[in-house]
Amino acid sequence: MDLYLLFKALHIISMVAWFAGLFYLPRLFVYHVEHPEAAPVLTIMEYKLARYIMLPAAISTAIFGLILILMVPELLQMGWLHAKLTLVLLLIGYHASLEHFRLQLKHGHNTKSGRFFRMYNEAPTLLLLAIVILAVVKPF
Ligand code: HEM
Repeated sequence: MDLYLLFKALHIISMVAWFAGLFYLPRLFVYHVEHPEAAPVLTIMEYKLARYIMLPAAISTAIFGLILILMVPELLQMGWLHAKLTLVLLLIGYHASLEHFRLQLKHGHNTKSGRFFRMYNEAPTLLLLAIVILAVVKPF
């Protein structure tokens, strides 16, 4: 069995789980703002999504990605990986910002509108497009 391909498969599976949360958590924020009567339940759903799915998935995406680099260190010379990891840093920043908004909503300190979270929800789509194209096409 090709271990490299096995770790790459685990890397992609982890990334899919991470993105499931990156796409869904801002949607929960929209409902949280627009349906305050459901806030107690949404607060629990947001916590479980963030801690039990998104965080472990983000960590395993990074661990399997780093294992791939350790197995083929020459990859570090590749321009596409430099560009990809720069976008991954943006993605980690986006993830951290969602954690900030989650805590703001939990403690009743949120100042953002439902419309803001709907628009903010588009950012991971753009990052996903760019990162996957860089990782698969390797244009430079
Ligand atoms: C967290 C840090 C990450 C590191 C260190 C990393 C590193 C890597 C490495 C070294 C490869 C192997 C390239 C190859 O053998 O062709 C790879 C493949 C891949 N990565 Fe990542 N990656 C990371 C995050 C991500 C994220 C966030 C995504 C998705 C948005 C992603 C999507 C992919 C895909 C789709 C492949 C398969 C490419 C192919 O088989 O052609 N990676 N990654």
